[in-house]
Amino acid sequence: MIKIIPQPKEIVILNDDKIMLKHIALGKSFLSKEAIDDFTSFCGFPKGEENIVFKINDKLSDEEYIIETGKITTITASSSAGQLYALQTLKQIILQTGGELPVLRIYDKPFYKIRGFMLDVGRYFFVVSDVKKIIKRMALHKLNVLHLHLTEDQGWRVEIDKYPLLTQIGSMRKKTNFNSKPHGGFYTKQDIKDIVNYAHAFCIQVMPEFDIPGHSRAAIACYNSLTCFPRDLHVADHWGVKHDVLCVGKEGTMQFVYDVLDEFFEMFPDEYIHIGGDEVPKHRWDLCPDCQAKRRELGLENSDELQFWFMNQIKDYCKAHNRQAFMWSWDLEDDKLIDHDLGFTKCGEMNTLDRPFIDTSTKAYYIDLPYGRIRLKDSANHKVYSGNAMGVEATLWTEYVPDMKKADYMSFPRIGCISETGWSGECSWSSFSSKLDFYYSFLDKNNIRYAKPNAANPNALRGKLGILWFERRQLAWEGLKNIFDDRKIERLAAKQNKKSPRL
Ligand code: ACM
Ligand code: ZN
Repeated sequence: MIKIIPQPKEIVILNDDKIMLKHIALGKSFLSKEAIDDFTSFCGFPKGEENIVFKINDKLSDEEYIIETGKITTITASSSAGQLYALQTLKQIILQTGGELPVLRIYDKPFYKIRGFMLDVGRYFFVVSDVKKIIKRMALHKLNVLHLHLTEDQGWRVEIDKYPLLTQIGSMRKKTNFNSKPHGGFYTKQDIKDIVNYAHAFCIQVMPEFDIPGHSRAAIACYNSLTCFPRDLHVADHWGVKHDVLCVGKEGTMQFVYDVLDEFFEMFPDEYIHIGGDEVPKHRWDLCPDCQAKRRELGLENSDELQFWFMNQIKDYCKAHNRQAFMWSWDLEDDKLIDHDLGFTKCGEMNTLDRPFIDTSTKAYYIDLPYGRIRLKDSANHKVYSGNAMGVEATLWTEYVPDMKKADYMSFPRIGCISETGWSGECSWSSFSSKLDFYYSFLDKNNIRYAKPNAANPNALRGKLGILWFERRQLAWEGLKNIFDDRKIERLAAKQNKKSPRL
């Protein structure tokens, strides 16, 4: 029985013959040099006469493919994506048969349009070579959207010509949750070009995230006037929700947002953009004369409605630049005031959405969470709410993930099941577990670190210990500091109010 992850739509073994592969040479295709080299170096066979050839059939959709093995193996597809995915499937067949191919026909196409991986480079920075490694890991699993979370309280990671301080100051924090060493880094425009080109070589789109109006402390540290009560704030050195967010009542802030978006549009040519929208405390907005004046001018009831207005405005700007915008659904239980063409990355359980969304369930796909919290079985068994789902996304926040070693350990074998749901439309622990041994050997062959079965599906005690280890760090959250800071801002606002009472 041939095992392939994610599961193809149809595999038919045509007879009992075997075809011995002794060499590999690809015929003419749409594939990038990177994708071809990746395949041939994986297989490790010498070159020779063409024995894997590509047929074009325009009736097939972009990502669809057919493989027919034989003395000459034929791959039929209409685009580079279909060809690439056929090669990924062939890799797995070659690995488990040692190159003794069964005579078979595979017909395959994806269930969901979006099969994503989110990398948070805001908390820990990942250098270009690491991002490229992740891109290759994505391609192995037929994932097609790299969601790069580029701006955060703890770091600004991308060069913006108009606001140079963002990277000069905003890319460095004094310490992290893990230790007291400074940490930082950012991508130059050339780095971004390099990443985007490499992603495209593997048929992956890049969805950049500009997380606004919350999670903006790094930007505020560089340009104080972006917030409601400008003061000396440094790049956050500890995670947790920050109360100083962008002031949406100030023209200057809106201009900043549009300026940054303009440079994002130049750097990231693909279809999707993420505009954050998560975890936005309204404490400052409620007290800010500019935000409240804006709210009254717009005839809105409260600061929550002001955020909905803001997200809609930004979405419109993205749409005018031919981008589909997404935001986190996190704390928006009632989404009536958000335009329905603004997509959600849906982390909560709200199953009433009638807008496009990508499933990023905190109970199955938040892969930074310990295996005691999200067991491999949970990732495998998660059912996507059918509604208007465009796809799924493995979501890797990185406050606890300082390097590739940890990123791999948290991601694999989870990505195996998440990709299966994304590609095949469903996965289950019973089907996935029957392929797990093979999957581990595939990860080994690709030098990818992973959690072994006992760690990935821990027993109760081991699971609890993992959670405790994780929570231990959360206890140090800045909660108390926030409470004192809030009181300080309240006194400041009262003083300002006395000086210029509201009309
Ligand atoms: C989120 O978990 N902050 C979207
Ligand atoms: Zn304000």
